[in-house]
Amino acid sequence: MQKRRLGRSGLSVSSIGLGLMGMSDFYGTNDRQESLRTIHLAIEKGMTFFDTADMYGMGENEKLLGEAISDHRRDDLFIATKCGFLRDPATGRISGINGKPDYIKKSCEESLRRLGIETIDLYYLHRIDPDTPVEESAGAMAELVREGKIRAYGLSEASPDDIRKAYKVYPLAALQSEYSLFTRDVEIEVLGTTRELGIGFVAYSPFSRGLLTGKFSLDTLSEEDSRRQSPRFQKENFRHNQANVQILETIASRNNVTPLQLALAWLLAQGPDIVPIPGTSKRNHLNEILGTLDHPVPFLEFVHLDEAFPRGVARGDRYAPESMKRVYVPPALSAKD
Ligand SMILES: NC(=O)c1ccc[n+]([C@@H]2O[C@H](COP(=O)([O-])OP(=O)(O)OC[C@H]3O[C@@H](n4cnc5c(N)ncnc54)[C@H](OP(=O)(O)O)[C@@H]3O)[C@@H](O)[C@H]2O)c1
Repeated sequence: MQKRRLGRSGLSVSSIGLGLMGMSDFYGTNDRQESLRTIHLAIEKGMTFFDTADMYGMGENEKLLGEAISDHRRDDLFIATKCGFLRDPATGRISGINGKPDYIKKSCEESLRRLGIETIDLYYLHRIDPDTPVEESAGAMAELVREGKIRAYGLSEASPDDIRKAYKVYPLAALQSEYSLFTRDVEIEVLGTTRELGIGFVAYSPFSRGLLTGKFSLDTLSEEDSRRQSPRFQKENFRHNQANVQILETIASRNNVTPLQLALAWLLAQGPDIVPIPGTSKRNHLNEILGTLDHPVPFLEFVHLDEAFPRGVARGDRYAPESMKRVYVPPALSAKD
């Protein structure tokens, strides 16, 4: 599989990474054995980039990845994880953000232990802590690099201002933020900043949490699935958004690809600095995702997609109001995407 560089950090990862979140959390129940097999298939197919976080399954997702990679050559893999979200152990509810240096360092030790590795390749602060200057968080990350606990660090959903402040303390390798045909906010200011500073861009939720797969149904969502709380998945909004997915389906079918493959190909075409990390917990779904690389789509079709999916086309915020407060929304936009 082709590789992409993470900005000017000197680090390279497979052009598509695998997001592990849904294997342990947020998207209903999952089959652990199938998740392990999916990670193994990804490695077999040449994927090197694996994305987890300490908050996914409250540590379980990191343990799952640790188990999956325990028999593999560590140097062939690029492991990214994150810290910063606090969760109530009893309910799992998110109770805050902590970006304080001591907390970051303690969390890193715990992640290393759960993953069973000696160095994390890319360690993100999952959200900016409004009560801790980002320079202090970046300072802790820089110390972790010097101590050899992490190779590089990143931020997630940070504003251009915070990216610049953190960069001044120590250059970050990557920003991880949501980017897809349905969520294009980062095009306003964020991508300009990461490109200017030579920071890689890791695009999460490239299928808008399943909407852009063309196979999503509200009827099959389990009770505990967090998408039930997402404004974008509420009935009326969902119906509106599905109409756009039909356009995606039309363009996909005339190019002999699936909607998901077209959505991913569009993202990869947005620049060599973009590394999407789609999430799946199933081998057959992973095969479809990786099929994107075998079926090139003419560039003109991406122009058609740009026209059909302008910024703000998706109806409903991507997160519930409390969570929207923790992500950067460019001032040029209202609360909506
Ligand atoms: N930094 C952050 O704040 C943040 C936030 C969210 C996510 N992330 C990262 O980004 C990764 C990806 O994001 P995401 O999982 O939210 O969303 P996504 O990649 O946009 O979509 C994932 C959804 O699509 C489904 N799917 C994938 N391939 C499919 C296929 N071939 N056919 C049918 N359905 C398919 C998955 O279900 P199946 O499991 O059934 O395939 C899952 O429900 C996460 O795993 C996580 O690592 C980061």
